[in-house]
Amino acid sequence: MTTKNSRKKESGIDVLLREKGSYPPPKEFSRASRVGSFSELKKIRQGSLLNPEKFWNLAAQELFWFKPWRKTLEWKPPFAKWFVGGKTNACYNALDRHLTGFRRHKAALIWEGENKEKRVLTYLQLHREVCRAANALKNLGIQSGDRVAIYMPMIPEAVIAILACARIGAPHNVVFAGFSASALSERIQDAQAKLVITADGFFRKGLIVKPKDVVDEALKSAPSVQKVLVVNRGIVENTSWIEGRDVDWFEVLSEASENCPAAKLDSEHPLFILYTSGSTGKPKGILHTTGGYLVQAAWTTKYVFDLKDEDLFWCTADIGWVTGHSYVVYGPLLNGATIFMYEGAPMHPAPDRFWDMIERHKISVLYTAPTAIRAFMRLGESWPQKHDLSSLRLLGSVGEPINPEAWQWYHKNIGRGRCPIVDTWWQTETGSIMISPLPGATPSKPGSASLPLPGIDAEVVDREGKPVSLGTGGYLVIRKPWPGMLRTIYGNPARYKEQYFSQVRAPGKKGIPYYFTGDGARKDKDGYFWILGRIDDVLNVSGHRLSTMEIESALVSHPAVAEAAVVGRPDNLTGQAVSAFVTLKEGQNPDESLKREISEYVGRTISPIAKPADLRFTPLLPKTRSGKIMRRLLREIAAGGAVKGDITTLEDLGALEKLQSREED
Ligand code: PRX
Repeated sequence: MTTKNSRKKESGIDVLLREKGSYPPPKEFSRASRVGSFSELKKIRQGSLLNPEKFWNLAAQELFWFKPWRKTLEWKPPFAKWFVGGKTNACYNALDRHLTGFRRHKAALIWEGENKEKRVLTYLQLHREVCRAANALKNLGIQSGDRVAIYMPMIPEAVIAILACARIGAPHNVVFAGFSASALSERIQDAQAKLVITADGFFRKGLIVKPKDVVDEALKSAPSVQKVLVVNRGIVENTSWIEGRDVDWFEVLSEASENCPAAKLDSEHPLFILYTSGSTGKPKGILHTTGGYLVQAAWTTKYVFDLKDEDLFWCTADIGWVTGHSYVVYGPLLNGATIFMYEGAPMHPAPDRFWDMIERHKISVLYTAPTAIRAFMRLGESWPQKHDLSSLRLLGSVGEPINPEAWQWYHKNIGRGRCPIVDTWWQTETGSIMISPLPGATPSKPGSASLPLPGIDAEVVDREGKPVSLGTGGYLVIRKPWPGMLRTIYGNPARYKEQYFSQVRAPGKKGIPYYFTGDGARKDKDGYFWILGRIDDVLNVSGHRLSTMEIESALVSHPAVAEAAVVGRPDNLTGQAVSAFVTLKEGQNPDESLKREISEYVGRTISPIAKPADLRFTPLLPKTRSGKIMRRLLREIAAGGAVKGDITTLEDLGALEKLQSREED
């Protein structure tokens, strides 16, 4: 290589279940909205449920198609094809379509670096850069169907890279730039990516993070990659460079032509693979295809955010998560909106960075996560109070249940009591928002994502697939296919079927399989959905999905660890926190420094997000007679509550007592 608060102690669910009042949409907001009354929305929803295909068929007509589809849906459970026979292109719809009218010179992207560097790209400029990047990819041997991994910070080039892939039909596989080398390598290998796009560095909390170094490390065990395209921002001295493999982004783009016709792709052509945690140790490559994904991303952005041409839309998610795909990039651009993008940490250099940017840039729609809201809430009202937030007209929330306290704080201190809040429920697998208020129509109840959107047949059912009575908890399922749904788990259709379509079916012997979300929910007397959180082995920490098994495998790969169990516990700030129980190998010393070391090790193996918030050493783990770890008991211990219920299957009560009294802590 050469060189170049404290809320009361009660579980999140209890808080959620404590329903508070209902907030009707402000009248002025409704008057200017696409759907301006609850009765109108109910009508649209009812109609759409009678004939969802008709509904989505109409929505699809708002996009550009090179060739129209001949069939709206082909459903061979559990495999769906939408807009069959149609030909389209995601990038063409996001950019080219806007170049012939008034949006040509409109800002598509307004970006601010953590160091306050600024860049603006109009639709015309963004299109030009994307075409160059697409040609550069082609010149590097990338063809339609080849997978391209994107490991990038929140800089405009990340958006350019995503759209360039879409333009030539190369499915992108964006990996969150906070993931470790081994997590990145695993995802690159699973997708068999041919090329990686990264950057020399980015700013985070005033420091420089170097993703290119992580890529170098990851590629030691990912031989499918032939080229690495590096956005050299010039902020890292002596970026490591492998001649023949590494390619300078700006160099190849400057040589590439700005003329690159968008590939005419089949509606079912893969658009992207995005890895997410499931209930096993191995992340799942969620595969989304083109036509259906675009239709739902475009529709939901337009209606849930009631997007207007004058808006400056800021979704604070990282492009490494599905929210970044659908609501930083595709949804807003498909609607010709202006997106705001920020590179750095939310509290840098001070806790009012968000409010400062909203004031300076006059941001009108803010879409963020409850964990961020709770973090701001802890620091008090004085930070947002310093700023004029009158440009805001709508607020959104995503990623986990928003507890009513955080909802109220958001409403009062950020929305100043004027802005509706849309609490949007969806998943990596669903592609786009599924359950959410429409801001001019739906009265909000803090803590509830309200009602399924038109065209979405969500229900809360029991094991037999029968809707449960109002107020009773059950499984959240989607009964009919929807356009943005995942098509499969990349390379593993059997796991797709098993994971999502084998748990709950329509009542009756030959009932069709329902899509099982992995979430529990209940409906109240008004039919509003209250999400109760995951009911599988998936944790939701700060709105990020983690698999308990993935963390356990990381723990046991540490040389000092013999056995480990991981559970989630409620946390006031992060929603859930990772709680680890670890049995050490003989001769290891269970002291604080080993605890720290093991925690850091998990951070390095997966990502800092996965680091246990608490780690307990225990000589034994409580197990059933058949050897299964008793997670329910561990969860109760982790939450600090008394252990209830039947423990007669416990093999070693001593282990439990020790854990409870925290002898080893
Ligand atoms: O448990 C639900 C929770 O996040 C899970 C999906 O996580 P992920 O695929 O990472 O996507 C996050 C962003 C879309 C869901 O199964 N979740 C997401 N949004 C909400 C939510 N829980 C309650 N309310 C929400 N608004």
